Amino acid sequence: MRLVVLVSGSGTNLQALLDACADPGYGSTVVAVGADRDGIEGLARAERAGIATFVRRVRDYPARADWDRALAEAVAEHEPDLVVSAGFMKLVGGDFLDRFRMVNTHPALCPAFPGMHGAADALAYGVKVTGATLFVVDAGVDTGPIVAQVAVPVADDDDEATLHERIKVAERQMLVDAVGRMAREGWSVEGRRVRIG
Ligand code: GRF
Repeated sequence: MRLVVLVSGSGTNLQALLDACADPGYGSTVVAVGADRDGIEGLARAERAGIATFVRRVRDYPARADWDRALAEAVAEHEPDLVVSAGFMKLVGGDFLDRFRMVNTHPALCPAFPGMHGAADALAYGVKVTGATLFVVDAGVDTGPIVAQVAVPVADDDDEATLHERIKVAERQMLVDAVGRMAREGWSVEGRRVRIG
């Protein structure tokens, strides 16, 4: 399975995929890494791995739809079977989603705590268990059909940073496991139900 991975930050989820893809038995290859900003560690990780990168910044386009189209064109050049949004802090438009199958990883147990602050919102609510979710991206914010989830306990002395870090350890493993199975076994979506194999 040819993967284009989209990032906006440190790219540890990307790194986990890159490490997994080093094993030919994993069944996937990262063919390109895209970002919505320059100068991030996620892009540096791709460059160190010798993988093609591209950057499309919203502010360089007259309208959001123009950015969306430019991003889609850049992604299309690499002919992905799957686009993986891994810490990509932008919503893509309907045209983008019509062209590609895309999954996103979110640091909470959907449908709880959607949006930009999944770990902080879970902590503020006082839940004892949170986690991470891999889902098929749809037009909503963290609303798409769920591919995989992993639970993570909240500790009494957690702050946002310690909780998010614990979530990210589990999130990376979930992402790698699920994408690997999708590649090797195939996958389908029926309504809200995602089936692998
Ligand atoms: C992940 O927890 C992701 O779910 C969230 O931002 C984090 C990205 O981490 N949206 P990284 O850039 O992969 O290290």
